[in-house]
Amino acid sequence: MAMLISSLSFLVLAFAFFFCHVMSSGSYDYFQFVQQWPPTNCIVRTKCSKPRPLQIFTIHGLWPSNYSNPKKPSNCNGSKFEDRKVYPQLRKDLKKSWPDVESGNDTRFWEGEWNKHGRCSEQTLNQMQYFERSHAMWTSFNITEILKNASIVPHPTQTWTYSDIVSPIKTATKRTPLLRCKPDPAQPKNQRPQPKGQRPQPNSPPQSQLLHEVVFCYEFNALKQIDCNRTPGCINQVNISFQ
Ligand SMILES: *[C@@H]1O[C@H](CO)[C@@H](O)[C@H](O)[C@H]1NC(C)=O
Ligand SMILES: *[C@@H]1O[C@H](CO)[C@@H](O)[C@H](O)[C@H]1NC(C)=O
Ligand SMILES: *[C@@H]1O[C@H](CO)[C@@H](O)[C@H](O)[C@H]1NC(C)=O
Ligand SMILES: *[C@@H]1O[C@H](CO)[C@@H](O)[C@H](O)[C@H]1NC(C)=O
Ligand SMILES: *[C@@H]1O[C@H](CO)[C@@H](O)[C@H](O)[C@H]1NC(C)=O
Ligand SMILES: *[C@@H]1O[C@H](CO)[C@@H](O)[C@H](O)[C@H]1NC(C)=O
Repeated sequence: MAMLISSLSFLVLAFAFFFCHVMSSGSYDYFQFVQQWPPTNCIVRTKCSKPRPLQIFTIHGLWPSNYSNPKKPSNCNGSKFEDRKVYPQLRKDLKKSWPDVESGNDTRFWEGEWNKHGRCSEQTLNQMQYFERSHAMWTSFNITEILKNASIVPHPTQTWTYSDIVSPIKTATKRTPLLRCKPDPAQPKNQRPQPKGQRPQPNSPPQSQLLHEVVFCYEFNALKQIDCNRTPGCINQVNISFQ
């Protein structure tokens, strides 16, 4: 009997520990590796330290993600960012692949991404591994070059369809990526108030949107790239401009 009680209490304890671990470290299904086109950040936010920033895709973040809950997990209870864990060679690498194009404080950008996202997958990748893996992902395919080879280069007026841009990336990586876009602030909003007594007109869709991010998806261990199957972050049927 004593034996049964002690093994039962062991089970209960083990379960409690497991549960606490899952709650505090966050749980996720897969990773989204998000790369951004810096000029779009600067068009949209008008906060950049340089007017015409880098013309290459750079890292925004590596996000442990949940298939059914797009905003989760985030801000988990793992270890806080520690700058000393970014050893000199890693820092040199990240300065290339993961710069902060808006304020110029790279460390603050890395700190924010680790604290918001990286900590939620700390059971899989510790802080050092998180940044090393992200840099390796960035190195594995050069999106800027893939698009350039498909004649998709920054242009002030030309536009492309969603699949025009996705196709060459899919061919090169053999996996389906996702695109994310931003509304183009240069386009008329078409949301002026209607004259009194008139029924509001349906807003006409914008003529184009700005390409902002390309997302690669990775399985739970962040080793193998997989097809992304989340809804694209661009307005359907609206052409995309790349500036
Ligand atoms: C994903 O989110 C849903 C809804 O919030 C939750 O029930 C589920 O446990 C989460 N999945 C994982 C793997 O964390
Ligand atoms: C983190 O821990 C704090 C205090 O223990 C708790 O209030 C909070 O809900 C936890 N957050 C998450 C995401 O688990
Ligand atoms: C950059 O951000 C880091 C981390 O938040 C902070 O410790 C540091 O003081 C900042 N550097 C400058 C020059 O603002
Ligand atoms: C990626 O390709 C672009 C365009 O060809 C080039 O400018 C850039 O140097 C390449 N980046 C790396 C890390 O090879
Ligand atoms: C782009 O084209 C160049 C020249 O044909 C080729 O050497 C390079 O491997 C191509 N890069 C990609 C990423 O397809
Ligand atoms: C969208 O882009 C395609 C090129 O891929 C072009 O043929 C088409 O005319 C564009 N549509 C609009 C509404 O600009």
